[in-house]
Amino acid sequence: MTIPFEETGHAVQAEPRRLLSESLRAATSDAHDRAEGATFVDDLMSGRLDAGGYRRMASQLYFVYRALESVGDTLSGDTVAGPLVDERLRRLPRLAADLAMLGVDPATLTPLPGVSAYVDAIEATRDDPPRFVAHHYTRYLGDLSGGQVIRSRMKLHYGLTEAALSFYTFDEIGKLKRYKDSYRDTLDGLPLDDEQIVSLIDEAVAAFGHNERLFAELAG
Ligand code: HEM
Repeated sequence: MTIPFEETGHAVQAEPRRLLSESLRAATSDAHDRAEGATFVDDLMSGRLDAGGYRRMASQLYFVYRALESVGDTLSGDTVAGPLVDERLRRLPRLAADLAMLGVDPATLTPLPGVSAYVDAIEATRDDPPRFVAHHYTRYLGDLSGGQVIRSRMKLHYGLTEAALSFYTFDEIGKLKRYKDSYRDTLDGLPLDDEQIVSLIDEAVAAFGHNERLFAELAG
């Protein structure tokens, strides 16, 4: 791309801008490693907990997805957030069904303090679509990736059945790899200015922080 250089009248070659999907992955990579290596996650994934460990995590995620999908409904027609909001990703009804299988009535649940803060952060994006995209990316791309590993470990270690793990099933989506690739293409084509890109990336790092706090509280 050639950009006119106003002061001199010379033309300079602009650096190709890094794709948003690549910036997001790079910016959250350390936080991802920390989340993956969190004591609670490591214990859960290694079979050192029991089905109750998974039940406690799923119970807290109920509050997160209730907020995420409520804001997603508000922003489904927005030019920035709308292209990513997809009915096939909706998890709350599945989470509710899984919790019922696990003997949990969501009406009896209380969010942990960190989860309340996480929910507030999501709610605060109702009028800030770029920041909402950060939360959308952090949870759904995670569910489509590491979530698939979680599902198989929960079956293996704790004997949980598919019926209690429908949260991780995206049967209307088909090949997850292809979906994730097209999700990244959509991210890269969003109409965002530089300031919005910076705030989106900041918010994604913060969203990972909320997940880290959740794991710390679940371990405590
Ligand atoms: C059990 C722990 C976890 C494992 C084993 C795991 C594993 C993975 C793997 C293998 C990928 C790469 C998939 C790909 O390139 O297509 C990935 C990507 C991702 N994970 Fe995780 N993950 C875990 C926890 C988390 C958590 C707690 C979050 C945040 C809530 C998260 C969010 C993401 C995101 C957003 C991506 C997409 C990165 C990108 O391509 O931009 N993961 N995860």
